[in-house]
Amino acid sequence: MKRVGVLTSGGDCQGLNSAIRGLAKGLYEYYGKKVEIYGIIDGYRGLINGEYRLMKPEDFSGILTRGGTILGTSRQPFKQMRVIDDETNVDKVAAMKKTYKDLKLDCLVVLGGNGTHKSANMLAEEGLHVVSMPKTIDNDIWGTDITFGFQSAVDIATHVIDCIHTTATSHGRVFIIECMGHKAGWLTLHAGIAGGADVILIPEIPYDIKKVIETVKARTKSGKTFSILAVAEGAISKDIAELPKKKKKEAIANMMYPSISYKIAHEIEEATGQETRVTVPGHFQRGGSPDAYDRFITTRFGAACAQLIIDEKYGFMTAMINGEVVPVPLSEVAGKLKCVPADSPIIRDAKSIGISFGD
Ligand code: F6P
Repeated sequence: MKRVGVLTSGGDCQGLNSAIRGLAKGLYEYYGKKVEIYGIIDGYRGLINGEYRLMKPEDFSGILTRGGTILGTSRQPFKQMRVIDDETNVDKVAAMKKTYKDLKLDCLVVLGGNGTHKSANMLAEEGLHVVSMPKTIDNDIWGTDITFGFQSAVDIATHVIDCIHTTATSHGRVFIIECMGHKAGWLTLHAGIAGGADVILIPEIPYDIKKVIETVKARTKSGKTFSILAVAEGAISKDIAELPKKKKKEAIANMMYPSISYKIAHEIEEATGQETRVTVPGHFQRGGSPDAYDRFITTRFGAACAQLIIDEKYGFMTAMINGEVVPVPLSEVAGKLKCVPADSPIIRDAKSIGISFGD
């Protein structure tokens, strides 16, 4: 009997269930009744607390289009993994290894983002058989061209920009749409271009507010009555970005606005006199059904993960590189972030049609 555990960890996104389905179908197809799949409840928390359930083949039916995760998820920061909890006195790493051993697992399949991959690699280094799939709307996992959830989130954020466009036009207003992404601006960049934003501000390119205001004023001068800005939640001004690390953290924490977009909106309104509004779709971007592309890639990631297990090839993440699903060692993925490069052709093309990045 082959015994496989599966967990989803970190912020949820579209495509988790379709990825689990792809994995399960691949395993049942090959092993038939000779495989048991254990769903670990709420991510690493369930692995620590020994909370799991034996899944049935029917659990994986009808979930291709369902958003969220049928297994539940939680955030278990990597930094805390080796810290013994004062109250509970639980050694989390030992507890996770115990659950794995108690279940007599042959492999643990982990679906998650950056933090999840650090922990997955740690468990692999501790001797567990681990394989993984790259999940996050942020698209910032190193080693893969794309993560699942990203394209569905881009679709939603683009739809928000489309809707805002019509009301911005009617009222002749400046609108800021704040997209998720604290460290990486992929979502804002893609949705901003797809939605026809005039200004795109991402964490990788610190902005100069004067340049942003200039763009808005230039549009007004040329007869355009509205402006659309796509701003990442982690967008940062040049002034703040240049501060030493500690001071930078303090400045961000002490900001007098609910988020960076409100500060930018205030500055634009003051400088231009034009009404400026902010829309924050927030977790809406992570919700609902995966789009066709995410269903397509998650089914492939799931099938590829099943194949790794069949081949007993452990310690890998399934990555998408040039349209092919390939295994990348967890040790190479863990601890790295894939940000938008300064010389990205996407930025070059966006700038060539007049989109401002505030730099
Ligand atoms: O990592 C995915 C993500 O949606 C980020 O884009 C966002 O900054 C963060 O999670 C929000 O976290 P939480 O769901 O814990 O509020």
